[in-house]
Amino acid sequence: MTETVFTYGAPALKFGTGSSSEIGHDLGQYDAHRVLLITDPGVAATGHPGRIADQVRAAGIEVVVFDRARVEPTDASLEEAVAFGRAEGPFDAYVAVGGGSAIDTAKAVNLLGTNEGELLDYVNAPVGGGRAPDRPLRPLVAVPTTTGTGSESTTICVLDVLAQHVKTGISHPRLRPTLAVVDPELTMTQPAMVTAASGMDILCHALESYTARWYAGFPAKKAEERVPYCGANPIADMWSEKALSLLAGAFRSAVRDGGDAAAREQMALAATFAGMGFGNAGVHIPHANAYPIAGRVRDYRPKGYPQDEPIVPHGMAVSLTAPEAFRFTFEAAPERHLTAARLLDPNVSGGDSDTLPKVLSTLMRDIGIPNGLAEVGYGDADVDDLVTGALQQQRLLATAPREVTGDDLAGVFRGSMEHW
Ligand SMILES: NC(=O)c1ccc[n+]([C@@H]2O[C@H](COP(=O)([O-])OP(=O)(O)OC[C@H]3O[C@@H](n4cnc5c(N)ncnc54)[C@H](O)[C@@H]3O)[C@@H](O)[C@H]2O)c1
Ligand SMILES: [Zn+2]
Repeated sequence: MTETVFTYGAPALKFGTGSSSEIGHDLGQYDAHRVLLITDPGVAATGHPGRIADQVRAAGIEVVVFDRARVEPTDASLEEAVAFGRAEGPFDAYVAVGGGSAIDTAKAVNLLGTNEGELLDYVNAPVGGGRAPDRPLRPLVAVPTTTGTGSESTTICVLDVLAQHVKTGISHPRLRPTLAVVDPELTMTQPAMVTAASGMDILCHALESYTARWYAGFPAKKAEERVPYCGANPIADMWSEKALSLLAGAFRSAVRDGGDAAAREQMALAATFAGMGFGNAGVHIPHANAYPIAGRVRDYRPKGYPQDEPIVPHGMAVSLTAPEAFRFTFEAAPERHLTAARLLDPNVSGGDSDTLPKVLSTLMRDIGIPNGLAEVGYGDADVDDLVTGALQQQRLLATAPREVTGDDLAGVFRGSMEHW
């Protein structure tokens, strides 16, 4: 029997300039008296978290601040944040101000502030115990400051498990924030490379969910087997298509001129829309490949990110194999790949497996993304290891529109060393 059901979940949403100055009122609706605000040092330096904390205090709510979320969280960084939350708690709500890193950190702190056990118990099997929270979490208000991950609307927390050299996640509907407050003004201070990399994350969320295996192509599930990701479906398609059109109009401008308020607002909408789409449909090969690309980094340090440790930021890691991945998936759904190419570039010509990859690599070149895996430090000798890492992401690979073998992935990695 094949699947006949798809699902849709999303947080309550408040969008627009000035929305982040109403959080005191919003928390009052959840009867919150004492909250933990979670952010990272770079975002704290912009002053936005401090301003939000003051505004919440002015509404008569006590605010404790944790400003040490790690950029691209690890099990160790999440454990530190969880220990802080448990020691300083109890809290009746949480506020996350930052990119995916701060929001995912808040999800872990909320999970382990309300449920027994340790972080690794809840991490996806086989890396962790795959345990499901048995108690509801407290309200989480997520306030994104990047235009990227869509973490403010998703059910996942992504982390690097250091001892196993693997990036993975915790995924459960209870992790979804209660309220997403998207204020484009907070995103204006993003450095150009953060705008470029996190924007490529939006783009890949939209493209991967749009080209994912159709929900009815999976075996039928029982109620208790349903997961938040159900494959491409009519509702996720709407969000993904709209996100692609918004990116077509705003992405290059937002990177070129960070002060372009109209472009910033369109990017914030695109990130939110793509989050609503992929948060229900799922993502596939570029995201599976991104995990080992980020996890095995040697000494690459992009501008605009903390320089103390090497990093291939998530959105950059996702984008580096995207052109080749979509060349590979083209034959499973040619019309969808071509529609996506036309949404991203209404003037595009051509109608074959090269069309979408070309649109992507031209965009990547224009916004300053590295020209392939070689530029971030990988060579042909690394391909086997990268394939091994990507093959661990079976949940993501199963969402691809065609079957993917190790040899297929090796071809995608080899073809991604240099794009132009
Ligand atoms: N949970 C999900 O659904 C989901 C989805 C995709 C990615 N992720 C995860 O999210 C993380 C990446 O998040 P991200 O791309 O949003 O970036 P980020 O949170 O890692 O932030 C990137 C850098 O930009 C800085 N920054 C953020 N906002 C800023 C602003 N407005 N002004 C100045 N500096 C700012 C930060 O301090 C940091 O140095 C990764 O760990 C990734 O795996 C999660
Ligand atoms: Zn992503």
